[in-house]
Amino acid sequence: MLDDPERLRKGDPQGMAGTLSSLPEQLEEGLERAADRVPDPPRGRLAVAGMGGSAIVGDLAAAATGHYGGPDVLVSREPGLPRGLGRDDLLVAVSYSGNTWETLAAYREALRRDLPCCSVGSGGQLAEIAAARGHPHVAVPRGLPPRGALGYLLAPLLALLAPAAPGLEADLPRAVEGLSGVRARWLPAVPTGRNPAKRLAGVLQGCTPVVYAPAPLAGVARRWQTQFNENAKVLAFHGVLTEAAHNEVVGWLGGQGVGCFAPVLLEAPAEPPWTPFLEALTELLQGQARLTNVRPSLDRFLPGLLELVLLGDLVSVYLALLREVDPWPVPPIDRLKEKLAARGLGGGSAEGEI
Ligand code: F6R
Repeated sequence: MLDDPERLRKGDPQGMAGTLSSLPEQLEEGLERAADRVPDPPRGRLAVAGMGGSAIVGDLAAAATGHYGGPDVLVSREPGLPRGLGRDDLLVAVSYSGNTWETLAAYREALRRDLPCCSVGSGGQLAEIAAARGHPHVAVPRGLPPRGALGYLLAPLLALLAPAAPGLEADLPRAVEGLSGVRARWLPAVPTGRNPAKRLAGVLQGCTPVVYAPAPLAGVARRWQTQFNENAKVLAFHGVLTEAAHNEVVGWLGGQGVGCFAPVLLEAPAEPPWTPFLEALTELLQGQARLTNVRPSLDRFLPGLLELVLLGDLVSVYLALLREVDPWPVPPIDRLKEKLAARGLGGGSAEGEI
C-alpha cells in the first residue's frame, strides 16, 4: 500500500505528506515574512495564546528558550490570560484561522488590559483586530490546515526570540539545512524497506500510540500525539519523562491490556543526562511492550527537535494511509467550531466586533 504511487495519491488527495514535508521551506519563508514585523523580545515573559496546531508552536518555542536561553515562554490554551501577565511581558496570539474562540478571547483580554501584544495567523478576526489596533501581525499563507502550517507559525516566534538567544539564532539556518537533508529518507517515494517513517507506521498500525519524551521535548511528544489524532484519526497519548517513569511504568509492566498500546520513546538531541536514563527505561520496557526508540540524527538541539517533529508528522500520514483514512480533513473539529459559532463563540460571531 505505502509503496504504490497511485494508492498514495488517492489516499492523500490534498497532499498532506507534501505539505508537512515542506517544513524547512516554510521555516525559511516564515522567517522572511517575520523580518521587521515582530517586536523586540520582552524584558519579562513571552506568553503564547493558541489552541491545537497553532498552540504547539508555543511549546516548541518554550523548548528552544529552555535550551538556548532568552525569555521564559508560557503557553496558554484557554479563553483567558495566564495569571500575573504585566507590561514587561508580551502576548503573542497565534491562530492559523484567526477565528478560534479561546485565542480571540485571550487576545481581547490583553487588549482590555492594555498589555503589549502581537499576533500570527492567516486572516480572520485576529488579523482584523490587529489592523484596527495597529498591532504587529505576521500574516502566513492561507489555504492550509493549521497543523500543516507549523513552519510558518513557528518562524515568527523564533525570529522574535533569536535576538535574546544567540545560540538559537545560529542554529536556525542549521535546522533548515539539516531538515532538508534528513527528510529525503522519509518521503513517500522511498520504499518501506528503506523508509523508517513508513516502517514505524506499520509497527503502530492497530495499536494506540503512547509517545514519551524527556521534559525538554514535551512539545514534540504532544505534536506526535495530536498528529496521530488529527491525521490518522486514532486515539493516541503522550507522557513526559522522567515523571512517567515514576508511575506509568508500573502500568506498562502490570500486564493488563498492554498489547493494545505501542510505546514510542523519543530521545533528546545531544542531551547527555538523558541517555543513561532512557537506556534504563528501555531495558525495563523491552519485552513487555512493542517499544520503539527514536533518536534524532541531527546533533544540535533545534535541528534535532524539528527532525523529530517532521518524522512524527510523516509517520502519522503513513498511519492514515494504512488505515485508509484521508489525513487532511478533521470533520469533528469543524463540527465543534460550527456549534461554538452558533452559540456566539469564535469565528463569524458577534464576538467578532473589534
Ligand atoms: C487543524 C488543527 C487544529 C487547530 C485548532 C485551532 O489542522 O490543527 O488543532 O489548530 O482547532 O485553530 P486555529 O489554529 O485556526 O486557531
